[in-house]
Amino acid sequence: MIPILVNEKKCTGCSLCVNDCPGGCLQLVNGKLYISQSACIECGHCYAICPQGAIRMANYQCKEEPVVPMTEIDSDTLLKAMRSRRTIRHFTAQPVEEDKIRKILEAGRYCPTGGNSQSVSYTILGSRQAEAEAICVSMFRKGQKLGSPFLSFLKQIKITDSFFFKGAPLVIVVSGKNDVDAALASSYMEIMAESLGLGVLYSGFFKACTGLSGRLRKLLQLPKGQKVVTCMVIGYPAVKYRRIVPRKKLRVRKL
Ligand SMILES: Cc1cc2nc3c(=O)[nH]c(=O)nc-3n(C[C@H](O)[C@H](O)[C@H](O)COP(=O)(O)O)c2cc1C
Repeated sequence: MIPILVNEKKCTGCSLCVNDCPGGCLQLVNGKLYISQSACIECGHCYAICPQGAIRMANYQCKEEPVVPMTEIDSDTLLKAMRSRRTIRHFTAQPVEEDKIRKILEAGRYCPTGGNSQSVSYTILGSRQAEAEAICVSMFRKGQKLGSPFLSFLKQIKITDSFFFKGAPLVIVVSGKNDVDAALASSYMEIMAESLGLGVLYSGFFKACTGLSGRLRKLLQLPKGQKVVTCMVIGYPAVKYRRIVPRKKLRVRKL
């Protein structure tokens, strides 16, 4: 199916869509718009840019929604808020509301993906969260006993029953075919979660376990070809940070 549909009555042949198409899929011939589907990545730039609303995307529901530019968010406030963000490792038991979960996932969905692959997946551990954590705890405890080199740096740490998820009510495992796509989506989600008053911990330890345990991978039932990229532990923070932490100097070079 041709992914782009043009309403010829509305199209004025202004060529804005032609100039903005990253795949060069659109052509104007004698004022009429022609589409070749071959290189179309369904990014929607033609749909978004058309002043007449003459374009629809065949494989998607197109409901007219005006854009809100990021400039609506004060950049000084945004930067201060980003610098104030902290990893949260203590959570209250308060559940995360469904509408907040939806917003977090929507932030991930709208993150850019290479070639507009949109192939990032999100697995909410939900009813399997305790079981997944128990698998990881048991693995780490065994590793500590055996003196696994992987865990040598963890020797001093007590692996409690809530070591991985810290009692948080929500865990979203972000997976994808492409690490960068899934990591970027996670970062969008983290910022959204923070703006909703929630705290986030990236559990790198949980991710490591998914690489070591077939049982855990089975529990996750990931779509084919997908690998775990991040594990986002989310909930209401039970700690409050009072000042912005210092960081190492920026390493910037201008060539
Ligand atoms: C990919 C990634 C994996 C992480 N894994 C863990 C983890 O398993 N356990 C943990 O306590 N913190 C984890 N962290 C949090 C880092 O330790 C934390 O970001 C860093 O110490 C800086 O602190 P801040 O996030 O509060 O600025 C992870 C962070 C990232 C980005």
